[in-house]
Amino acid sequence: MNPLLIANWKMHYGPIKAGGWVRAFRRERLPKDVDIAVAVPHVSLAAARASLGRASIPSLAAQDVFWEQDGPYTGEVSASMLEEFGVQYCLVGHSERRNHLDESNDMVAKKAAALQKQGIVPVICVGETAAQFKKKETNKVLRQQTTAAIAKLDKESKIPFVFAYEPIWAIGSGKACPSQRAREAHEVIRGVIVKKMDKTIAGNTKILYGGSVDPNNISEYITTTGIDGALVGGASLDPRVFGLLCRTAVPS
Ligand code: 13P
Repeated sequence: MNPLLIANWKMHYGPIKAGGWVRAFRRERLPKDVDIAVAVPHVSLAAARASLGRASIPSLAAQDVFWEQDGPYTGEVSASMLEEFGVQYCLVGHSERRNHLDESNDMVAKKAAALQKQGIVPVICVGETAAQFKKKETNKVLRQQTTAAIAKLDKESKIPFVFAYEPIWAIGSGKACPSQRAREAHEVIRGVIVKKMDKTIAGNTKILYGGSVDPNNISEYITTTGIDGALVGGASLDPRVFGLLCRTAVPS
C-alpha cells in the first residue's frame, strides 16, 4: 500500500495563488510510490485543475461537501459538482469545521456516504480535544467518531475511504503527537472498522496522521506500523516543503 500524503491548504490560496502552487509543485521531483493529493478551497478547484493540465499528480481533493445532490441549499457544493472537476478525495469532518460550524458526527456520516456514492474517496477526520486528551478520553472519542462516520458507508462499495487521526491539540501547534501515541489511536480506529465492517476493509483502509507534520518528523510517522500517510496543513503551503515531505515519505 503506497503511503498517502494530502496537503490541506485550509482557507489559503484563491485561484491565482492556487495555480502558482500547482505549477511550482509540478517542478518538484515526485516519488512514484507515494500517493499525493492536494485539498484546495472550492473556489480554487478550477485553477488547480487547469494548472495540472494532463498531469495526474497530485490528485485533486476538496475540503468539504454537502450531502444532497442538488436543490435549495444555498452556498453548498455537492459531490457530483466536485466530480466534474475530477476531484478524487474530499475531506470531511475536519476539526475546524466541527468546531467553527458545529458539524456533527451525523453530518460527517452523510457527507462521507454522499462522496462514496459519487466515486470520491472520503477522508474522514477524527481526533480529540486537549481537554479530552487530558481526561484520557481519546479512545472513547475516537470510537464514537469512527463508529458514527462509517455508519452510512456501503460495505460493498469499491470506493475506499480514508481516516485521518488529527488530535486537535497537535494541529498548528508545533506539538506533534508522539508516533507511538498516534499508533495506538490508529489501532482504535482500525479496531472499530474491523468490528463494524470487516478485517479486509480495515486492513485496506489508509489511516493518516495529521497535526504539526513537518520534514523533521514525517519519516517517524511513515515508519510507524499502522500509520499510512499524513494530512499536512502548515507545511504544505510551500510547494517545495510539501515536495520534500513527499520524497521523505518514500517507503524504504
Ligand atoms: P498542521 O499541519 O498545520 O498542524 O495542520 C494539520 C491539519 O489540520 C491538516 O488537516
